[in-house]
Amino acid sequence: MYQTLSTQLENNILVITINRPDKMNALNQLVMAELALAVDEVYGNHDIKSAIITGAGEKAFVAGADISEFLTLTPKQGEELAKKGHVIFQRIENCPKPIIAAINGFALGGGCELAMACHFRLASENAKFGQPEVNLGLIPGYGGTQRLTQLIGKGKALELMMTGDMLNASEALSWGLVNHVVPLAELLPKAKSLLQKIHAKAPLAISRVIKCAHAALDKDIDGYDTEIKEFAACFATKDLQEGAKAFVEKRQANFKGE
Ligand code: COA
Repeated sequence: MYQTLSTQLENNILVITINRPDKMNALNQLVMAELALAVDEVYGNHDIKSAIITGAGEKAFVAGADISEFLTLTPKQGEELAKKGHVIFQRIENCPKPIIAAINGFALGGGCELAMACHFRLASENAKFGQPEVNLGLIPGYGGTQRLTQLIGKGKALELMMTGDMLNASEALSWGLVNHVVPLAELLPKAKSLLQKIHAKAPLAISRVIKCAHAALDKDIDGYDTEIKEFAACFATKDLQEGAKAFVEKRQANFKGE
Protein backbone atom coordinates (compact mmCIF):
# COMPACT_ATOMS: atom_id res chain seq x y z
CA MET A 1 0.00 0.00 0.00
CA TYR A 2 2.80 2.47 0.84
CA GLN A 3 5.93 3.05 -1.26
CA THR A 4 8.19 4.45 1.44
CA LEU A 5 6.73 2.93 4.60
CA SER A 6 5.87 -0.53 5.75
CA THR A 7 3.21 -1.03 8.38
CA GLN A 8 2.42 -4.05 10.48
CA LEU A 9 -0.52 -4.39 12.86
CA GLU A 10 -0.05 -6.97 15.59
CA ASN A 11 -1.63 -7.13 19.04
CA ASN A 12 -3.33 -3.77 18.39
CA ILE A 13 0.05 -2.05 17.85
CA LEU A 14 0.75 -0.51 14.43
CA VAL A 15 4.48 -0.57 13.70
CA ILE A 16 5.23 2.12 11.12
CA THR A 17 8.65 1.59 9.55
CA ILE A 18 10.18 4.33 7.40
CA ASN A 19 11.55 2.25 4.58
CA ARG A 20 14.27 3.94 2.49
CA PRO A 21 17.33 2.29 4.03
CA ASP A 22 19.55 3.09 1.01
CA LYS A 23 18.91 6.80 1.75
CA MET A 24 19.15 6.45 5.52
CA ASN A 25 15.33 6.67 5.62
CA ALA A 26 15.54 10.39 4.80
CA LEU A 27 12.17 12.16 4.85
CA ASN A 28 11.34 13.20 1.32
CA GLN A 29 7.93 14.63 0.48
CA LEU A 30 6.51 11.20 -0.35
CA VAL A 31 7.58 9.80 3.04
CA MET A 32 5.95 12.78 4.74
CA ALA A 33 2.71 12.32 2.76
CA GLU A 34 2.62 8.60 3.52
CA LEU A 35 3.48 9.19 7.17
CA ALA A 36 0.46 11.51 7.37
CA LEU A 37 -1.73 8.72 5.97
CA ALA A 38 -0.32 6.15 8.41
CA VAL A 39 -1.02 8.54 11.29
CA ASP A 40 -4.58 8.98 9.99
CA GLU A 41 -4.86 5.19 10.23
CA VAL A 42 -3.79 5.33 13.88
CA TYR A 43 -6.47 7.93 14.61
CA GLY A 44 -9.23 6.17 12.67
CA ASN A 45 -8.77 2.42 13.01
CA HIS A 46 -10.37 1.03 16.17
CA ASP A 47 -8.16 -2.06 16.03
CA ILE A 48 -5.11 0.17 16.54
CA LYS A 49 -4.55 1.07 20.19
CA SER A 50 -1.04 2.49 19.81
CA ALA A 51 1.82 2.88 17.34
CA ILE A 52 5.58 2.63 17.08
CA ILE A 53 7.57 4.66 14.55
CA THR A 54 10.92 3.14 13.59
CA GLY A 55 13.36 2.99 10.67
CA ALA A 56 14.27 0.14 8.31
CA GLY A 57 17.71 -1.43 8.60
CA GLU A 58 20.33 -1.27 11.31
CA LYS A 59 21.94 2.09 10.50
CA ALA A 60 19.30 4.78 10.53
CA PHE A 61 16.05 5.71 12.18
CA VAL A 62 15.81 8.77 9.93
CA ALA A 63 18.87 10.79 8.86
CA GLY A 64 16.85 13.95 8.33
CA ALA A 65 14.78 15.65 5.72
CA ASP A 66 15.87 14.69 2.21
CA ILE A 67 18.65 17.21 1.51
CA SER A 68 18.44 16.59 -2.24
CA GLU A 69 15.03 18.31 -2.24
CA PHE A 70 16.44 21.52 -0.72
CA LEU A 71 18.60 22.72 -3.59
CA THR A 72 15.93 24.54 -5.58
CA LEU A 73 13.58 25.71 -2.84
CA THR A 74 12.55 29.37 -2.57
CA PRO A 75 11.80 30.91 0.86
CA LYS A 76 8.07 30.57 0.09
CA GLN A 77 8.48 26.88 -0.72
CA GLY A 78 10.61 26.49 2.40
CA GLU A 79 7.79 27.98 4.46
CA GLU A 80 5.28 25.57 2.88
CA LEU A 81 7.59 22.61 3.54
CA ALA A 82 8.01 23.57 7.20
CA LYS A 83 4.27 24.20 7.65
CA LYS A 84 3.40 20.79 6.21
CA GLY A 85 5.94 19.14 8.48
CA HIS A 86 4.55 21.00 11.50
CA VAL A 87 1.02 19.81 10.75
CA ILE A 88 2.08 16.17 10.46
CA PHE A 89 4.29 16.20 13.55
CA GLN A 90 1.64 18.02 15.61
CA ARG A 91 -0.84 15.36 14.58
CA ILE A 92 1.56 12.72 15.93
CA GLU A 93 2.11 14.72 19.13
CA ASN A 94 -1.61 15.30 19.71
CA CYS A 95 -2.72 11.77 18.89
CA PRO A 96 -5.01 10.48 21.67
CA LYS A 97 -3.40 7.04 21.31
CA PRO A 98 0.25 6.52 22.34
CA ILE A 99 2.78 6.87 19.53
CA ILE A 100 6.36 6.12 20.54
CA ALA A 101 9.64 6.24 18.65
CA ALA A 102 11.92 3.21 18.51
CA ILE A 103 15.18 4.77 17.36
CA ASN A 104 17.35 2.15 15.70
CA GLY A 105 20.25 4.28 14.42
CA PHE A 106 20.88 7.85 13.21
CA ALA A 107 18.11 10.26 14.26
CA LEU A 108 19.38 13.47 12.70
CA GLY A 109 17.63 16.70 11.73
CA GLY A 110 14.05 15.84 10.79
CA GLY A 111 14.65 12.34 12.20
CA CYS A 112 15.38 13.73 15.65
CA GLU A 113 12.39 16.06 15.21
CA LEU A 114 10.15 13.13 14.27
CA ALA A 115 11.31 11.20 17.33
CA MET A 116 10.64 14.24 19.53
CA ALA A 117 7.09 14.58 18.17
CA CYS A 118 6.36 11.09 19.48
CA HIS A 119 5.07 10.73 23.04
CA PHE A 120 8.32 9.20 24.27
CA ARG A 121 11.45 7.60 22.88
CA LEU A 122 13.41 4.37 23.18
CA ALA A 123 16.79 3.96 21.53
CA SER A 124 19.07 1.11 20.56
CA GLU A 125 22.67 1.24 21.76
CA ASN A 126 23.90 2.26 18.27
CA ALA A 127 21.51 5.24 17.99
CA LYS A 128 22.91 8.72 17.38
CA PHE A 129 21.07 12.02 17.73
CA GLY A 130 21.65 15.50 16.41
CA GLN A 131 20.34 18.64 14.77
CA PRO A 132 23.08 19.22 12.19
CA GLU A 133 21.12 21.71 10.05
CA VAL A 134 23.66 24.51 10.66
CA ASN A 135 26.15 22.45 8.64
CA LEU A 136 23.85 23.08 5.67
CA GLY A 137 23.15 26.76 6.36
CA LEU A 138 19.79 25.80 7.76
CA ILE A 139 17.93 25.47 11.07
CA PRO A 140 15.51 22.77 12.24
CA GLY A 141 12.13 23.33 10.56
CA TYR A 142 9.86 20.55 11.78
CA GLY A 143 9.48 21.81 15.36
CA GLY A 144 12.99 20.90 16.51
CA THR A 145 13.96 24.27 17.99
CA GLN A 146 10.89 24.11 20.21
CA ARG A 147 10.66 20.43 21.16
CA LEU A 148 14.39 20.01 21.79
CA THR A 149 14.34 23.05 24.09
CA GLN A 150 11.30 21.66 25.91
CA LEU A 151 12.79 18.19 26.29
CA ILE A 152 16.39 18.85 27.31
CA GLY A 153 16.44 22.55 28.28
CA LYS A 154 17.67 25.64 26.45
CA GLY A 155 21.39 25.39 27.18
CA LYS A 156 21.79 21.82 25.99
CA ALA A 157 19.43 22.38 23.04
CA LEU A 158 21.38 25.43 21.88
CA GLU A 159 24.69 23.56 22.20
CA LEU A 160 23.37 20.73 20.00
CA MET A 161 21.79 23.06 17.46
CA MET A 162 24.81 25.42 17.29
CA THR A 163 27.56 22.78 17.13
CA GLY A 164 25.67 20.23 15.03
CA ASP A 165 27.33 17.59 17.25
CA MET A 166 25.82 14.14 17.66
CA LEU A 167 24.90 12.51 20.96
CA ASN A 168 25.33 8.78 21.36
CA ALA A 169 22.58 6.73 22.98
CA SER A 170 23.91 6.88 26.53
CA GLU A 171 24.42 10.66 26.27
CA ALA A 172 20.88 11.01 24.89
CA LEU A 173 19.66 9.00 27.88
CA SER A 174 21.47 11.18 30.40
CA TRP A 175 20.35 14.37 28.60
CA GLY A 176 16.70 13.23 28.82
CA LEU A 177 16.18 12.88 25.10
CA VAL A 178 15.28 9.19 25.37
CA ASN A 179 13.71 7.14 28.17
CA HIS A 180 15.45 3.79 27.62
CA VAL A 181 18.48 2.41 25.78
CA VAL A 182 18.52 -1.29 24.88
CA PRO A 183 20.43 -3.56 22.49
CA LEU A 184 19.11 -3.28 18.93
CA ALA A 185 17.52 -6.75 19.00
CA GLU A 186 15.50 -5.75 22.07
CA LEU A 187 14.31 -2.39 20.76
CA LEU A 188 10.96 -3.40 19.23
CA PRO A 189 10.20 -6.04 21.91
CA LYS A 190 10.81 -3.42 24.63
CA ALA A 191 8.66 -0.84 22.82
CA LYS A 192 5.88 -3.39 22.37
CA SER A 193 5.97 -4.53 25.99
CA LEU A 194 5.68 -0.92 27.22
CA LEU A 195 2.71 -0.37 24.91
CA GLN A 196 1.03 -3.61 26.06
CA LYS A 197 1.34 -2.34 29.62
CA ILE A 198 -0.35 0.93 28.54
CA HIS A 199 -3.09 -0.97 26.64
CA ALA A 200 -4.20 -2.50 29.96
CA LYS A 201 -4.96 0.98 31.35
CA ALA A 202 -8.08 3.11 30.74
CA PRO A 203 -7.74 4.45 27.16
CA LEU A 204 -9.64 7.69 27.81
CA ALA A 205 -7.42 8.40 30.81
CA ILE A 206 -4.35 7.79 28.63
CA SER A 207 -5.55 10.29 26.05
CA ARG A 208 -6.28 12.79 28.84
CA VAL A 209 -2.76 12.57 30.28
CA ILE A 210 -1.36 13.16 26.78
CA LYS A 211 -3.58 16.24 26.43
CA CYS A 212 -2.65 17.61 29.88
CA ALA A 213 1.09 17.09 29.39
CA HIS A 214 0.93 19.07 26.16
CA ALA A 215 -1.13 21.77 27.86
CA ALA A 216 1.82 22.27 30.22
CA LEU A 217 3.88 23.47 27.26
CA ASP A 218 1.21 25.47 25.43
CA LYS A 219 1.56 29.18 26.16
CA ASP A 220 -2.06 29.83 25.17
CA ILE A 221 -3.53 27.33 27.61
CA ASP A 222 -3.65 27.15 31.41
CA GLY A 223 -2.41 23.57 31.95
CA TYR A 224 -3.68 23.45 35.56
CA ASP A 225 -7.13 24.41 34.35
CA THR A 226 -6.93 21.75 31.63
CA GLU A 227 -6.02 19.15 34.26
CA ILE A 228 -9.02 20.07 36.45
CA LYS A 229 -11.39 19.78 33.47
CA GLU A 230 -9.91 16.48 32.24
CA PHE A 231 -9.87 15.03 35.78
CA ALA A 232 -13.52 15.97 36.19
CA ALA A 233 -14.46 14.44 32.82
CA CYS A 234 -13.10 11.06 33.99
CA PHE A 235 -16.03 10.85 36.42
CA ALA A 236 -18.45 10.61 33.49
CA THR A 237 -16.76 7.44 32.17
CA LYS A 238 -17.67 3.80 32.64
CA ASP A 239 -13.96 3.10 32.85
CA LEU A 240 -13.64 5.00 36.14
CA GLN A 241 -16.54 2.98 37.57
CA GLU A 242 -14.86 -0.22 36.37
CA GLY A 243 -11.40 0.78 37.63
CA ALA A 244 -12.56 1.80 41.10
CA LYS A 245 -14.83 -1.28 41.38
CA ALA A 246 -12.04 -3.61 40.27
CA PHE A 247 -9.75 -2.10 42.93
CA VAL A 248 -12.34 -2.64 45.68
CA GLU A 249 -13.04 -6.19 44.42
CA LYS A 250 -9.29 -6.90 44.24
CA ARG A 251 -9.38 -7.92 40.57
CA GLN A 252 -7.90 -6.74 37.28
CA ALA A 253 -9.92 -3.93 35.67
CA ASN A 254 -11.37 -4.57 32.24
CA PHE A 255 -11.47 -1.17 30.56
CA LYS A 256 -13.61 -0.57 27.45
CA GLY A 257 -12.59 3.00 26.65
CA GLU A 258 -16.09 4.24 27.48
N1 COA B 1 18.99 13.39 2.72
C1 COA B 1 19.20 12.76 1.57
N2 COA B 1 20.02 11.70 1.43
C2 COA B 1 20.63 11.27 2.54
C3 COA B 1 20.46 11.88 3.78
C4 COA B 1 19.60 13.00 3.86
N3 COA B 1 19.32 13.63 5.00
N4 COA B 1 21.22 11.23 4.69
C5 COA B 1 21.83 10.24 4.04
N5 COA B 1 21.49 10.25 2.74
C6 COA B 1 21.95 9.36 1.66
C7 COA B 1 23.34 9.67 1.20
O1 COA B 1 23.35 10.73 0.29
C8 COA B 1 23.74 8.35 0.58
O2 COA B 1 23.13 8.22 -0.67
P1 COA B 1 23.98 7.66 -1.95
O3 COA B 1 24.39 6.26 -1.53
O4 COA B 1 23.00 7.68 -3.07
O5 COA B 1 25.15 8.57 -2.10
C9 COA B 1 23.07 7.33 1.51
O6 COA B 1 22.02 8.03 2.17
C10 COA B 1 24.00 6.77 2.56
O7 COA B 1 24.54 7.85 3.29
P2 COA B 1 26.14 8.02 3.54
O8 COA B 1 26.37 9.48 3.84
O9 COA B 1 26.90 7.43 2.42
O10 COA B 1 26.31 7.13 4.85
P3 COA B 1 27.39 7.30 6.01
O11 COA B 1 27.25 6.08 6.86
O12 COA B 1 28.71 7.66 5.47
O13 COA B 1 26.88 8.58 6.86
C11 COA B 1 25.24 9.97 7.95
C12 COA B 1 25.65 8.55 7.53
C13 COA B 1 23.82 9.89 8.50
C14 COA B 1 26.19 10.50 9.03
C15 COA B 1 25.30 10.91 6.72
O14 COA B 1 24.53 10.32 5.68
C16 COA B 1 24.75 12.29 6.97
O15 COA B 1 25.41 13.13 7.55
N6 COA B 1 23.50 12.56 6.49
C17 COA B 1 22.90 13.87 6.55
C18 COA B 1 22.45 14.21 7.96
C19 COA B 1 21.85 15.60 8.00
O16 COA B 1 22.49 16.60 7.80
N7 COA B 1 20.54 15.64 8.31
C20 COA B 1 19.82 16.87 8.45
C21 COA B 1 19.13 17.21 7.19
S1 COA B 1 18.26 18.73 7.34
